[in-house]
Amino acid sequence: MQTARFWEGGQPPGTAPRGKLAARQLAMPADTNPAGNMFGGWIMASMDAAAAMTTTRLAGCQTVTVAVSNIVFMQPVKVGDTVCFYTDVKKTGRTSIILDVEVWVLRIGCTERIKVTQAEFTFVVVDDDGRPKQIDPAHFS
Ligand SMILES: CC(C)(COP(=O)(O)OP(=O)(O)OC[C@H]1O[C@@H](n2cnc3c(N)ncnc32)[C@H](O)[C@@H]1OP(=O)(O)O)[C@@H](O)C(=O)NCCC(=O)NCCS
Repeated sequence: MQTARFWEGGQPPGTAPRGKLAARQLAMPADTNPAGNMFGGWIMASMDAAAAMTTTRLAGCQTVTVAVSNIVFMQPVKVGDTVCFYTDVKKTGRTSIILDVEVWVLRIGCTERIKVTQAEFTFVVVDDDGRPKQIDPAHFS
């Protein structure tokens, strides 16, 4: 029987990202923390932006972030990494969209992506005045 264990990359070999690729960025030195790795705030902002691109596309109008939960930084993001943001819509409510965001990196010289961060984001579809607006199911078909 196989027992659970942790691999260096934080996930078993062959594990794939969940959801669709929403954005991709190159990790640049301007956004590092004192340890020389990428600043967590940059990762969070990039996740938020990737999630927003998914929700605005699905909703067909403006969306805003109302909550972020269960964020976990599993591995550092290093300068030079190709950082990939995957979004997976879990649930839609009357005006809200809940989605998982996973961040995977491809390090320089490596062929396998590794998962570095994950979180759950909740967005609200809003009208031009910033008030919650009912989701149009036609956009989600
Ligand atoms: C998002 C915002 C418009 C919601 O306004 P509100 O008066 O709280 O609206 P409601 O109470 O009607 O809630 C709207 C939806 O958000 C959900 N929601 C509200 N607060 C939430 C929270 N803390 N966590 C998860 N979901 C939440 C509600 O469950 C509801 O979902 P549903 O319609 O699918 O059932 C308002 O809180 C806001 O403008 N926040 C600031 C957004 C912002 O500036 N984000 C950062 C930049 S994008």
